[in-house]
Amino acid sequence: MATLEPINLIKGWPSTSLLPTHHLSRAAQTALADTSIAFPGLLYGPDEGYAPLRDTLGSWLTSFYQPEQPIGQERITISGGASQNLACLLQVFTDPVYTRDVLFAAPAYMLAFRIFQDNGFSGKMKAVPEDDHGMDMVALRRALEESEKRSPDNRSPMFKPPRPYAKYYRHVIYCVPTFSNPSSRTLPLDRRTELVKLAREFDALVISDDVYDFLQWPADPNDSKSTSITKALLPRLVDIDRFLDGGAERPGADGYGNTTSSGSFSKIAGPGLRVGWSEGSPKFAYGVSQTGSSCSGGAPSQLTSTYMNILVKEGTMSEHIFKILQPAYAARYKTLVSAIQKHLCPHGAKLPKSNQPIVGGYFLWLTLPDTIKAVDFVKRCQIEAQVIIAPGNIFEVPGDDSVKFEHSVRLTFSWIDQVLMIEAVKRISVVLESCLKGEGPTANHKQQYQPVLK
Ligand SMILES: Cc1ncc(COP(=O)(O)O)c(C=O)c1O
Repeated sequence: MATLEPINLIKGWPSTSLLPTHHLSRAAQTALADTSIAFPGLLYGPDEGYAPLRDTLGSWLTSFYQPEQPIGQERITISGGASQNLACLLQVFTDPVYTRDVLFAAPAYMLAFRIFQDNGFSGKMKAVPEDDHGMDMVALRRALEESEKRSPDNRSPMFKPPRPYAKYYRHVIYCVPTFSNPSSRTLPLDRRTELVKLAREFDALVISDDVYDFLQWPADPNDSKSTSITKALLPRLVDIDRFLDGGAERPGADGYGNTTSSGSFSKIAGPGLRVGWSEGSPKFAYGVSQTGSSCSGGAPSQLTSTYMNILVKEGTMSEHIFKILQPAYAARYKTLVSAIQKHLCPHGAKLPKSNQPIVGGYFLWLTLPDTIKAVDFVKRCQIEAQVIIAPGNIFEVPGDDSVKFEHSVRLTFSWIDQVLMIEAVKRISVVLESCLKGEGPTANHKQQYQPVLK
């Protein structure tokens, strides 16, 4: 048998062909040639991050999300990306004892689990299932109520000292409400509002990874608007929390708010830049900046922040997103969907149901026929078809067996080109047919199987 070229449908990375290298090269040269930019860029920066970028981001996010009032720099702290920001948020705003639990919309972004474990939350992580429209709010309320009943005497932080700019929340809720990784679902507006209200009622912090929001296109492949959508599909949770009933400053509230948005340039410019941002109430945003590592070294990614400030301010970032990325990822998405519809759906595989007119992100969540276990299927796809895909079980919340994804897989459409994508789906369909016929794995299974996780 001829050797097949391996095809990777697990990597949630931007395509190298879509990285804005030429724009970054120019921005880097501009920044480094001008000492008024280069010196602050190369020295320790302020705890809150490079001020010009905070200001520029405020205007840029205002034009995309169009909240009731503009977003000022006092709501933004620069981060080293959503992952690093998550670690900072947990360091500042949680105590592993006082904070009763972490509730994940499940299936959940698997690489977040370890960040919570590193902060003492092993054994306290719980899954809240999604339905076709995202996190189930009835299940979330039940989980919060049960958790409160379990720990009535837990009244004060045990490991974290009192600090002027750190509040310790009783619960954490982690979600990716727009074009989720991995389920690709989008939480509708009514549930977003309900989520904010629940967070307030139970003193929870909702950490919302909003890293895919800019990558959107019409769900209908025949829609002619498919080249650029310059306004966000829905308000973020942080926008709702800011204005609902007076926001973080309403009577009786402590000014911190109950939601934060993690943004990132990873998916739209390049993860190697390690630049992102954290948005919340001014008190919250300042609190994030007071994490020990930022007080010592300044906010992360100071130099690359100067490059991103140039690109966002002059409009190049928007142009790249709206003119290059949206059409390119829309085309990849459509290719993958139609290949799945042609080659896998006739064999019982199902794509999620959605009534959202706009879709986006990097991923598709596929449910296999009930007779097929995703872990075995993924193994066979890798060994027999040289196609690497992610089994549903890696998105299950560790330590919580109540929500399982034994028959689901995640496919990424961002990393490989459309020709390879079609080829991958055709190869997967051969494995699927073989599984459905009840045929066992081929002899190649004697090879050692090395699971690939990212
Ligand atoms: C939901 C989600 N959050 C965070 C990240 C990582 O983002 P960053 O590179 O900004 O740390 C990813 C990357 O796959 C992601 O899908």
